[in-house]
Amino acid sequence: MKLVWSSASPFARKVMVVAHELGLADRIEMLNGTGTPLAPAEATRANNPLAKLPSLAREDGPALYDSAVICQYLTSLAPGQTLLPEAGEARWATLTLEALGDGLCDSAVATRYELAMRDEAKQSQAWIDGQMAKVDGALDALEADGGALLEGSFTLGHAAVGCALGYLDFRFADKDWRAGRSALAAWYEGFQSRPSCAATVPT
Ligand code: BEZ
Repeated sequence: MKLVWSSASPFARKVMVVAHELGLADRIEMLNGTGTPLAPAEATRANNPLAKLPSLAREDGPALYDSAVICQYLTSLAPGQTLLPEAGEARWATLTLEALGDGLCDSAVATRYELAMRDEAKQSQAWIDGQMAKVDGALDALEADGGALLEGSFTLGHAAVGCALGYLDFRFADKDWRAGRSALAAWYEGFQSRPSCAATVPT
């Protein structure tokens, strides 16, 4: 399998965290698709008409995107896996936690692009504030009730949240997201001790 990927993308990182957790990382060739929304790398368009990464090219079927679809696909390759419960409330909780982590990333990445790619004079502070309010909303939900959403064994949802927090440290080092969120900060310490996290640190 060939994954179009970028080290900086928290969505691509989530896929690789999941691949490591499932013991599938050595079956994935990583192709660098680093670009920007205004100048996407050609490799991104080859598998995905949206020219976004990550995408996964397979030998026995069409390419898959986006990261949530790829993660579900990877679980299907790992009999007995525990990252995505088969059915019931636990499955919905896992997929909703993944959506929360991914949504946090959507807003953080949108802010990153506004700050990094738009002329300073044209940047919208209202847009930035609105996106970062979503980031804070997600962080507060993750902290609520002593981090109740994060209880239980490691799932796709935890991979998404871990990569989202890693992205904040990577691109928003000045944002002290840990302040007032001790349960979430403690959970992230644990995430950082996982080999799947250490193997995928953005550069
Ligand atoms: C970044 O450079 O921050 C980035 C790259 C790819 C996807 C998302 C974010």
